[in-house]
Amino acid sequence: MTKYWISSETSVEINDAPDVNAVHFNVDDKNIMVSAGQTIYEALQRMPGIGEIPALCYNPAIRPYGACRLCTVEVSEDRGKSFRFVASCLYPAKEGQIVKTNTEKIRKLRKGIIELLLARCPDVRVIQELAKEYGVEKPRFSLGGHDCILCGLCVRACQEIIGKSAISLVNRGIYKEVAAPFYAYELGEECIGCGDCSYVCPTGAIIMGSNGKPVLPRVKIPYAEVGAMTSKEKLSTSQK
Ligand code: SF4
Ligand code: FES
Repeated sequence: MTKYWISSETSVEINDAPDVNAVHFNVDDKNIMVSAGQTIYEALQRMPGIGEIPALCYNPAIRPYGACRLCTVEVSEDRGKSFRFVASCLYPAKEGQIVKTNTEKIRKLRKGIIELLLARCPDVRVIQELAKEYGVEKPRFSLGGHDCILCGLCVRACQEIIGKSAISLVNRGIYKEVAAPFYAYELGEECIGCGDCSYVCPTGAIIMGSNGKPVLPRVKIPYAEVGAMTSKEKLSTSQK
């Protein structure tokens, strides 16, 4: 008989018999039992108090995408002989796994990610709070004053929940951003003004405008300007 936690407050003692509908694994030295078919993050979301995993790009209504990597945990599938990093919002909870959610290595990795996020979005409250929690005082560099962490939740909410594609992530590297079709300043008819993109945004980068349509995130270079620039001009702007 082994004791398994089935919620943060309830445990059961059961024989270690295989059960296709349940997954038994260990999180931070606690045996837990969850229903099969969940990711590690999903499973632990239902067990408050077990595991310590921050997440910025997870939303239960939207398929996980693994953009922020803050939810990284260490996982062993060989009884603790070796561990590797996985994004818990994407990785399935498996029978016999050992999961560590807050080791020194993980905190170091998350600290690095948070420093990058803070360098990009110094005024965003949720990032400031994470920085405080992980001891990131001041980033060693600046990546501009953005509000958007490019997690793509807004774009996927529009596609997956509403069935529209009124906004998308465009460009690459430092020019990546959320934009309306053809870099329009205002969203047109393709946007029904549901506000879902604004609702799911973890940083508050999308607000609803007085015309009932979302106002897309503040960017360093206005969309129209970027659209009209040649690659060479974009490069010289980025170096200023
Ligand atoms: S606007 Fe918000 S939801 Fe959209 S990519 Fe940026 S941070 Fe994510
Ligand atoms: S919440 Fe898992 S990668 Fe962002």
